[in-house]
Amino acid sequence: MRDFEPFIIAFVCNWCTYTAADLAGTSRLSYPPNTRLIRVMCTGMVDPQYVIKAFMDGADAVLVSGCHPGDCHYINGNFKARRRIRLLKEILPRFGVAPERLRLTWIGASDGIQFAQTMRELADQARELGPSRPLEMAV
Ligand code: FES
Repeated sequence: MRDFEPFIIAFVCNWCTYTAADLAGTSRLSYPPNTRLIRVMCTGMVDPQYVIKAFMDGADAVLVSGCHPGDCHYINGNFKARRRIRLLKEILPRFGVAPERLRLTWIGASDGIQFAQTMRELADQARELGPSRPLEMAV
């Protein structure tokens, strides 16, 4: 799988991780080019169906990243996200997707370095797992 470049979808909170991604870009920090950011107002609005659809549509890894606990602008959205991700990791194998392909992180607005590093780690892990081949299911 030497030539395999994983396709990564990242659902990022507008208030923190999106800004960190922007900072990584303006700081010229490198992270995998096959990353597509989807800006959301809060990780609490990331419906589990979005994650499953991302895998069904070809993502090799999915990141959900938001504000640190206690910093969510909508009070407890990130805690809702944490519960949903925990459940998703249990059901993803039913769709033929390894749970390691899904990651939840808290990355603050000033953590551009951490964002770039997280994306590189996620890409490395997806490279080790190889291309994702989810089962054909209607979502
Ligand atoms: S506002 Fe950032 S996770 Fe809720």
